[in-house]
Amino acid sequence: MPAPATRVSVREEFRRRFGGEPEVVARAPGRVNLIGEHTDYNDGFVMPMAIDRWVTIAARPRIDGRVTLHSVDLNDEGSFALGGRGEPGHEWIDYVRGVAWALGDAGKALTGFDGVVSGNVPVGAGLSSSAAFEMAAARAISAVSGFEWEAVAMARAGQRAENLWMGVNCGIMDPLISAGGQAGHAILIDCRSLEMRPVPLPRDVAVVILDTTTRRQLIGSEYNDRRGQCASAAAACGASSLRDVSQAQLDGGREAMGDVAFRRARHVLSENDRTLRAAEAMRAGDAALLGRLMNESHQSLRDDFEVSTRALDAMVESARSAPGCHGARLTGAGFGGCVVALVDRHRLHGFVPHAVATFTAATHLVPAVYPCEAVGGADIVNPA
Ligand code: GLA
Repeated sequence: MPAPATRVSVREEFRRRFGGEPEVVARAPGRVNLIGEHTDYNDGFVMPMAIDRWVTIAARPRIDGRVTLHSVDLNDEGSFALGGRGEPGHEWIDYVRGVAWALGDAGKALTGFDGVVSGNVPVGAGLSSSAAFEMAAARAISAVSGFEWEAVAMARAGQRAENLWMGVNCGIMDPLISAGGQAGHAILIDCRSLEMRPVPLPRDVAVVILDTTTRRQLIGSEYNDRRGQCASAAAACGASSLRDVSQAQLDGGREAMGDVAFRRARHVLSENDRTLRAAEAMRAGDAALLGRLMNESHQSLRDDFEVSTRALDAMVESARSAPGCHGARLTGAGFGGCVVALVDRHRLHGFVPHAVATFTAATHLVPAVYPCEAVGGADIVNPA
């Protein structure tokens, strides 16, 4: 997986390694989720935005059906044959192998390529560096192979690669927003129909990502536990998905499913409702209401879904106590990583030092701060 920023352009590095020019330069963004957490795999609603940090790949087709990719950030080279029967692996190149496998499995005819990759999406922070890598790979492969780029189909291939190849049981949100983001907008996604509705960000507010710099190792098992608990809550209500469960049904099934599954499901139902209301608030330009819904989301993730940590709670509190903050919540899967805060743009200069100092005083950790803009999804960016 590509690591943080580098100054060497992938085009320059391509010339140096392979000679001549790349034919395509493709890139795909990371994402921050404004609201709608742990709802995607419950057929619910999410509202992420693609952010101005990317994984970029310079590529030129080759005729022997091989992919050779050099990672600038890792100073490493990976290579594999398309259509090969190789076993899934967990090296960085396996993200590309996995996507190529999923695209081939979906009936696409693929062309191999020589390529160079680099990225500046923070790795392991919950900002979807792996989805960005997968969608950049899919974008490059679609360009060198000459098949059409369809955001939903490509996101599905990315999710299959994660689920069946990398063994991570994640939902559709991350690859879909990386594939189909829109500048200046968050996207309200119905994870059942995969309908994507762009929602404009309120004017004069900035989205600020505050990285606790804490990372949880065993996140895969915690994540899969939560998925299992949601599935059993739905089953106890006679439904195949929490999307089809009403609050009354959930209350009726409380005893049968037990307290833990009940609280997980209560989070999902309330989060779906908050996400739809947040989209309304954004359309109305109501930053204060959006902020309040984000605060409520964090509380529900902390108390009912239990995916917050001391560091995330401290970051949220520090952000909320800083000037100009409308609201803050953990973003992504939880268990470490980042908080997203909604801040008055003209008070940003006061917000950042205050939030950082309060957090450091409480935790002795130094957070990383990434103010970000909403950008478009995966694209071809020749020249880069
Ligand atoms: C991770 C997963 C997503 C989603 C979030 C939680 O980012 O990859 O599919 O489930 O966690 O909202």
